[in-house]
Amino acid sequence: MVSFVVVLLVVIALIAAVINGENSSIKRSDFPDGFLFGVSTSSYQIEGGYLEDGKSLNNWDVFALYPGGIEKGENGFIADDHYHRYLKDIEIVQSLGVDAYRFSISWARVLPRGRFGEVNPNGIMFYNKILDELVLRGIKPFVTIFHHDIPQELEDRYGSWLSPLMQEDYVHFAETCFKNFGDRVKNWITINEPNLFAQMGYQNGIYPPARCSQPFGYCSAGNSDIEPLIVMHNLLLAHGKAVRLYRKDYQSEQDGLVGIVLNCIMYEPMTDDDLDKEAANRALAFDIGWVLDPLIFGNYPSEMRKYLGNQLPRFSVAESNYIRDGIDFIGVNHYATLYAKGCIHSSSSCSLTGNRSIKGFVDFSTEKDGVPIGESTGIDVMKVVPRGIGEVIEYLNKRYHNKPTFVTENGYSEPEVQDQVPIILHDDKRIEFHKAYMSSIAQAIRNGADVRGYFLWTLMDDFEWNHGYLLKFGLYYVDRKTLNRIPKLSARWYQDFLINNTLASNIQLAVS
Ligand code: BGC
Repeated sequence: MVSFVVVLLVVIALIAAVINGENSSIKRSDFPDGFLFGVSTSSYQIEGGYLEDGKSLNNWDVFALYPGGIEKGENGFIADDHYHRYLKDIEIVQSLGVDAYRFSISWARVLPRGRFGEVNPNGIMFYNKILDELVLRGIKPFVTIFHHDIPQELEDRYGSWLSPLMQEDYVHFAETCFKNFGDRVKNWITINEPNLFAQMGYQNGIYPPARCSQPFGYCSAGNSDIEPLIVMHNLLLAHGKAVRLYRKDYQSEQDGLVGIVLNCIMYEPMTDDDLDKEAANRALAFDIGWVLDPLIFGNYPSEMRKYLGNQLPRFSVAESNYIRDGIDFIGVNHYATLYAKGCIHSSSSCSLTGNRSIKGFVDFSTEKDGVPIGESTGIDVMKVVPRGIGEVIEYLNKRYHNKPTFVTENGYSEPEVQDQVPIILHDDKRIEFHKAYMSSIAQAIRNGADVRGYFLWTLMDDFEWNHGYLLKFGLYYVDRKTLNRIPKLSARWYQDFLINNTLASNIQLAVS
């Protein structure tokens, strides 16, 4: 009897693991032929060289000096010193056996004064060297044009993304990239996470330019209800103009594709109640539809138009025509799954955590009846919920008729590792995390989703925005004193997964 119960429990646990996408026997061959595996980085988070060879100050260089903006008062002035170590870093990328590498171009390095000054030849040279090296080594570059960092001059002159003038600056930057790098770049990403950028910079005010209003935060200026909507409007029009330009003047010769990357949180209803189901759908529409509905269908989601009324900017007919059908692929950055609870119909207003307006009048939680949705990571709202990535892919698949999709970021930071190097290097949890998330993606593909690649965040521990160097997402640990890169167990696992296609269960840690 006892053994029957044990067997039953094991079977139940296995079924639950499979349902949750936690199938640890994931292999490269579980993905279709031509599926790309890669790693992702971004310029400000790794480059350093913050005022070298003509680069100007950017928004993060300036923000880093605000008291309290970044954990321990850190900054990206040196970061991982990738600016000087890029060759070694590309060697590391190649040694992993990846097919592709996603990185971003520092706007202030290429156009230190935006449209108001010259192109910086040293900036062009730097990215040319990176691209040449990648192509030489057979690694496909996925290049993000704008990943959170802008020349500070554009902020100071006209308030950057709050002004339509920024659209012209963005198009000028994008064209500079197409002209100089487009012969080698077949996959462009216009903007990284416009939805997160608009929220962090203009609703919560915790990213530069640190604008917000109460009760969302205590900033010196801003309007948390309105400004994120204006910023998004300018981002979408900028994207649309750049894509049109690429398709008209560059695509036939350069033969590349252009996509956009979103922060894709999965929202699950807190209960079976219809109001919570509606809330979860509304949250998805206000977060993902906010960006993708205009770029695919030509207008904001009906849910947003209904609830936001005149607060929501409008597209003219001409604008709607040039932004619609404006992406070749969707980039998914996935880090969190949250429970959603409707608050629009309740007599009490939504909580003060910033979930009104741009989040669709929905309250969120990482817990149901006191039970966390998943295991903790280094960031409170990011719990380990592997099924979430499959669910969000299936949502995209349905809403956008199976548009080609790449998972452009997915990563794990452990809670409270501080500087305990041996623990940091033995990162079994990161390995389990990626295996489980990959299984969930493989299942979504088997269900019919057109997912074409998986980029792990990130190559090496880096400057994690407000968290400085405290949070660690990397396959490589970076010693902050020597800046040496040291492989974690997960780097060995990824390499083994990619090159040997084994279960990689017995990898020994070899620290060089
Ligand atoms: C961003 C990355 C960031 C990562 C982990 C994403 O929102 O694109 O730049 O480092 O999340 O926090």
